[in-house]
Amino acid sequence: ENIPLELHKVRIVQKLHLVPIERRLEALQEGGFNTFRLNTKDVFLDMLTDSGTNAMSDNQLAAMMQADDAYAGSQSFFRLQKAVEDVLGKKYYLPVHQGRAAENILSNAYVRKGNLVPMNYHFTTAMAHITQYGGKIAELLYDEAYVINSSHPFKGNMNIEKLEEVIKVHGAKNIPFIRMEASTNLIGGQPFSVQNLRDVRAIADKYNIRIVLDASLLGENAYLVIQREEEFKDSTMGEVMKIMTGLADIVYFSARKLSSSRGGGICTDNADIYKELEALVPLFEGFLTYGGISVREIEAMAVGLYETLDETMISQSPDFIAYLVNALDAHGVPVVKPAGVLGVHVDAMQVCEHIPQKEYPAGALAAALFLISGIRGMERGSISNQRDEYGNETYADMELVRLAVPRRVFTLSQIKYVEDRMTWLYENRALIGGLRFVYEPPVLRFFMGGLEPV
Ligand code: F0G
Repeated sequence: ENIPLELHKVRIVQKLHLVPIERRLEALQEGGFNTFRLNTKDVFLDMLTDSGTNAMSDNQLAAMMQADDAYAGSQSFFRLQKAVEDVLGKKYYLPVHQGRAAENILSNAYVRKGNLVPMNYHFTTAMAHITQYGGKIAELLYDEAYVINSSHPFKGNMNIEKLEEVIKVHGAKNIPFIRMEASTNLIGGQPFSVQNLRDVRAIADKYNIRIVLDASLLGENAYLVIQREEEFKDSTMGEVMKIMTGLADIVYFSARKLSSSRGGGICTDNADIYKELEALVPLFEGFLTYGGISVREIEAMAVGLYETLDETMISQSPDFIAYLVNALDAHGVPVVKPAGVLGVHVDAMQVCEHIPQKEYPAGALAAALFLISGIRGMERGSISNQRDEYGNETYADMELVRLAVPRRVFTLSQIKYVEDRMTWLYENRALIGGLRFVYEPPVLRFFMGGLEPV
């Protein structure tokens, strides 16, 4: 058995509660069968997300104690700026309060009505901001990306032939940038290869279009490059990360995932780009040396960025995910393969093949899993999709339930509990019924929407 080992020790703990199933049913009813609306007092294992929930290190907590409080010119900011340059290799850094704030600023600066943004795949907030500013997106993955039971090492690769075709059809002047998302979240945390990014760079250069890299899950993508891409098998984390960021004109990230538990940023080596974006930070976020982030969190970000260079830290989440993917797969539970990053992704389309897509199989599975186990996952299927410009429902390519494995948070016995409960639910899947909306917000409906059993 390939047992992942915790390469850290636990020194601060938080008590968990496993409430009775009757209370869990009430909690689901109170929360509109939407796991986002559950209260953590009712949740046993919180696998909703890794965002803001990765464990912090002793060094991060120590750094938070020496933060320099100042509206302008804080020393904490300069430490972070240096960390960004050392780790991501970019000279200019603009702080923002979280990843979607970077998406707002980039869309505000560059996306105009009628523009098209080609990307390997969308992330919910990235797409919402691009469409808010009148743009559209084109998702250009290879077909293999949508295959659940796959052994393709880089399902997040951009389809290079399609990219060139889309540029020819729409015209380079209507394309403000090409967006590449490291460890492509919504298809199961699947990486792209460095070679693929080089190929995207060649096309971008040919047509003079910028590349924007969403680096929120860059560390894990780099880790899988070292594992899976022959050319980099002897490279360090730092080398691979810098090669990847070096191929992009603009790098942005959610620090809630990349480095620590709050914050975000945009960085570039291009002084003109920096100037274009600079004015938007005080407008939307705060002064340029804090960007809506507390100085304590800025210190934690700086230390956390350096910690992403440590393979024994970055390996923790992907190795535990691989363990759980292999275990569930051995029990016949359909999961996205190969194992990716961020979490384990269960294929609700197969588990709930008796539930039509209009009754949200992934939402139904997430609710059922919570009911029978107290494990909170996240729907990543049609509920997470937004309606098209005519108000029609758009069905997701994949109906996934994501069970996030934040870094250094869960023990192996907790992971085995997930294995046991998910397997039981799979064996009793006929018990799961579909859902329908009773309250549907117009934007990012999955966060606060309310549903009921059909
Ligand atoms: N980009 C990616 C790839 C993300 O995964 C996220 C957030 C964002 C951008 C937005 O960043 O939350 O700091 O505003 N992903 C979280 C998740 C919410 O649960 O997957 P944010």
